[in-house]
Amino acid sequence: MSFREQCQVVLTHPMSFLVKIWDEFQAKRLTKTVLPYTLVGPERIRNLHRLACYIERERIPGDVVECGVCNGGTAAVLARSATRSPLSRTIWLFDSFQGMPNVTEHDETGGGRETAQSHIGKEVGDIERVKEVLMLARADMRRVRIVPGWFLDTFPGARIERIAILNIDADWYESVRLCLDTFYDRVVPGGFVSFDDYGHWPGCRKAVDEFFEARQLTYKLHQVDYTARWFQKK
Ligand SMILES: C[S@@+](CC[C@H](N)C(=O)[O-])C[C@H]1O[C@@H](n2cnc3c(N)ncnc32)[C@H](O)[C@@H]1O
Repeated sequence: MSFREQCQVVLTHPMSFLVKIWDEFQAKRLTKTVLPYTLVGPERIRNLHRLACYIERERIPGDVVECGVCNGGTAAVLARSATRSPLSRTIWLFDSFQGMPNVTEHDETGGGRETAQSHIGKEVGDIERVKEVLMLARADMRRVRIVPGWFLDTFPGARIERIAILNIDADWYESVRLCLDTFYDRVVPGGFVSFDDYGHWPGCRKAVDEFFEARQLTYKLHQVDYTARWFQKK
């Protein structure tokens, strides 16, 4: 956008311009806060922040769900606004806190040529670190549910009716598939589904592609960086 066009935007929509500046300032601050607690880079953090701001601005109802929390960096980005929302959201954080589970034949080699096998039992999150970063992000802890355990065991007990953001950062085929099978139908129209590992891990990509095919979904997958994707449900 040229300088002249930018000036026109400022003059015709001064409030939305100020909101945009404020959101960008918040995103920068949050990124700095959460970086030591996350495996995810700044671009993906900023994108999650944008989705979190959007559901507030557009008043998209529902809870926020993250599957794959580790030490809580991306969870904190989502939790900051979600837990203070006038829409009384709860943020649900699911993780084994025992590291990555076993792989299946769908998982193989990721971008950077690392093998999925070498990640089994790694990326062990610590609930105390999750709480620490949530507090640093000034999330309201009364609206946070940290649910430790394997998805297979914990998902059935979670009472979640509507979802505004479903953030799936669980790498493997079986994990991603289970997240979609369990939660997709609860994502409300206008809500978002985001995948951290679509470009990196072939198992994640396969799980998403198969799910789209099985449900005959035609949503455009928006690209964040080489790996992350998201779409908005209609
Ligand atoms: C890449 S890490 C998550 C990174 C995190 N979002 C961040 O900000 O750094 C993936 C996490 O998914 C969890 N995970 C993967 N599959 C799981 C499953 N089936 N059940 C429970 N946790 C699982 C692992 O424990 C691991 O902590």
